[in-house]
Amino acid sequence: MTYTSHEVHLKSRPDGMPQPENFEVASVEVDEPGEGQFVVRNHFMSVDPYMRGRMRDVKSYTPPFQIGQAMDGGSVGEVVASQNETFPVGSFVSGGQGWREYYISDGTGQQQIDPSLAPLSAFLGVLGMPGLTAYAGLLAIGEPKEGETVMVSAAAGAVGSLVGQIAKIKGCRAVGSAGSDDKVQHLVDDLGFDAAFNYKTAELHPALAEHCPKGIDVYFENVGGAMLEAVLLHMRPFGRIPVCGMIAHYNDTEPKPGPKTLISVIPNRLKIQGFIVTDYAGMAPDFHREVGGWLKEGKIQYRETVVEGIDNAPSAFIDLLNGVNTGKMVVKL
Ligand SMILES: NC(=O)c1ccc[n+]([C@@H]2O[C@H](COP(=O)([O-])OP(=O)(O)OC[C@H]3O[C@@H](n4cnc5c(N)ncnc54)[C@H](OP(=O)(O)O)[C@@H]3O)[C@@H](O)[C@H]2O)c1
Repeated sequence: MTYTSHEVHLKSRPDGMPQPENFEVASVEVDEPGEGQFVVRNHFMSVDPYMRGRMRDVKSYTPPFQIGQAMDGGSVGEVVASQNETFPVGSFVSGGQGWREYYISDGTGQQQIDPSLAPLSAFLGVLGMPGLTAYAGLLAIGEPKEGETVMVSAAAGAVGSLVGQIAKIKGCRAVGSAGSDDKVQHLVDDLGFDAAFNYKTAELHPALAEHCPKGIDVYFENVGGAMLEAVLLHMRPFGRIPVCGMIAHYNDTEPKPGPKTLISVIPNRLKIQGFIVTDYAGMAPDFHREVGGWLKEGKIQYRETVVEGIDNAPSAFIDLLNGVNTGKMVVKL
């Protein structure tokens, strides 16, 4: 028996914002597993901002997607056929084989997950890569201390929403920026942020001064652009800036000049450090224990935006870049 699987190929490299015609859905047959192998039916796949970088033909920390080939990325699924004792039929795995419905594996890069802990999709968000990104970036680089102010951009997204909630758990004032009034309300009403503002309608300097009256000790950077330029003038001495992402630049067709306010790092003795989540794989056990515990205790809430069907995966990705999502954007397969 074979499994008919649909998968998304990169048809052409986007120039600026990706368009539906940059992608193509293809049908392939996945064979029965051989000795030591198993077949997974994906239940959910992830779309993430870093995938935009992989659509460029440049050397980076992950290799570029190839034209005419299936893309990959985070996925969670169920073993449906197996000749591998470690991954029996009916077990659930998290792997890097997204953008497709079925795949065959020998177990390399696959992790077993316990679906009794949380809904499967949570392993792509709050309990997955974006969750560890928030946890490690904030705690290991941001080093927030009780009473400090933590500001996070893209605050209503997968990473940002957890950053603000962990900041609250650590006794900080949590402030977020997001791209709609509904998201701002969600941050304050549902997630317990102390303050939030809509960066598309607010004037940045008055908003930062109002919501961070003592200044900012930790700025968790997700967006870059005008926000970084403004925030730099509101940082407190010895402030920390974990640079997680700069999504405002991912579709740039030309490199943009850096922030005009960068010189303020000197008088304010700021620490600015970029990071990649995989640098902090060693924090994963603490992350699972702590964030898993906070989830169970109801100290952390999370939201997801769920799009249905592999055919809609490219539009889910484009919507993510346009800020349509609240919380983690996932595709249900
Ligand atoms: N370093 C790492 O290892 C690592 C790992 C994971 C993620 N990241 C980075 O973390 C950031 C958040 O990722 P995520 O997965 O949690 O995505 P997300 O925040 O759930 O989704 C992306 C959000 O970015 C916002 N956005 C889009 N264009 C923007 C612009 N021009 N200016 C400001 N905001 C914009 C949108 O929200 P609004 O409605 O607020 O505009 C959108 O919802 C990204 O920069 C990503 O690259 C880094």
